[in-house]
Amino acid sequence: MTAPVTRPESRAFFALAAAAVVGLVMSGLGGCTPASSSDDDGATASPTPAPVALEPTLADAAPDGFFVGVTTGGGGHLGGPSPQDDPANAELVAAQFSSVTPENAAKWEVLRPAQDTFDFDAFDAVVEAAEANGQRVRGHTLLWHSQNPAWLKSGTFTPDQMRELLHEHIATVVGRYAGRVAAWDVANEIFTDEGVLRQENPFIAALGVGIVGDAIRWAHEADPEAKLFLNDFDVETPGPKVDAYLALIADLQAQGVPIDGMGLQGHLSTQYGRPKQLQSVIEKFAALDLDVEITELDVRMPVSGDGPSKADLLGQAQYYADVAAACMAVERCTGITVWGVSDKNSWVPFTFPGEGAALMFDEDLAPKPAFEAFRETLAEGRG
Ligand code: G3I
Repeated sequence: MTAPVTRPESRAFFALAAAAVVGLVMSGLGGCTPASSSDDDGATASPTPAPVALEPTLADAAPDGFFVGVTTGGGGHLGGPSPQDDPANAELVAAQFSSVTPENAAKWEVLRPAQDTFDFDAFDAVVEAAEANGQRVRGHTLLWHSQNPAWLKSGTFTPDQMRELLHEHIATVVGRYAGRVAAWDVANEIFTDEGVLRQENPFIAALGVGIVGDAIRWAHEADPEAKLFLNDFDVETPGPKVDAYLALIADLQAQGVPIDGMGLQGHLSTQYGRPKQLQSVIEKFAALDLDVEITELDVRMPVSGDGPSKADLLGQAQYYADVAAACMAVERCTGITVWGVSDKNSWVPFTFPGEGAALMFDEDLAPKPAFEAFRETLAEGRG
């Protein structure tokens, strides 16, 4: 059976914690860069810390062929310009990452403003920017219960019509980006945490589980080279939801459905503890001859007016290191994507009031301890 994560207390974390003790890493803490030479405890005077170097980049630190991804084409939840219109954000995207996922730009509500209308502007911009930066694109997503357009949600369609709508959507969208979008989250979040098919997904409600295999087949017809994934949250720990995916994938494979991978989103919270069994879950999917990716990593925490403490940020850094170590330990784990560049634009405070600070760069786009821990663990290479 599967060995547990062998490197949870990674060298990266110990180096980071040691550096924190002597006050060397705190220059990257969001909004709390010390102006004086005293640390927060006022115990010892120390030199003003040097800024955290952004090089080597995350993409450079990772082994060849391992994707370090980020979202563009979405966000803007906290007001101000959208992240993709912010040059400093764009610079980090271009420099640090080797893969891009559209946060919202390839969802039905954006691509399908009306039943007979496709609007590709936002997704085109994501793909063109990624190509200019030499980055891979992961498409997200074709079959989901959320962010569907009003005309689809409120319309009345027969099962045959729903099937034809989805077929047309997949053929058109995947076909348009054939050869340019390397992987697709074909179906997103189709099971509840109890491992039951989500009936709020209108396609599953109308057509049953068989539509998942059809969606993958249609995507394969539209772009035979694209890697085709299922994707979900709360699958970082063994349980009924993981079991439901393993059973479904085995069934799809038995039918000859060309499924290539499983995406584990990785929306973590310091309130719920570190994902200590993540490596074993990755291995379960890899054992089905699948690629596995961490597709939407972030690590939220409760935040108050003072912002996160040093201890909070160091604790968060360990989560990022853990996820990188678990993925790096399994050869078929081919990449990690973070769900946003900085805390300035994360979806988290919008959805979970009172929580935030979930990403590796703070609201001023300065790197946090998580950045260093993640980078150092990537640099340690495959375990
Ligand atoms: O576009 C409107 C804008 O006009 C309005 O001013 C603003 C404030 O109300 O809302 C904007 O739309 C929001 C949109 O994000 C863009 O900011 C929607 O209300 C909001 O619901 C939407 O949230 C997205 C969420 O999916 C919806 O389910 C997040 O950006 C996006 O990060 C999130 O991504 C999902 C993945 O696709 C699947 N896995 C979970 C992940 C996090 O929920």
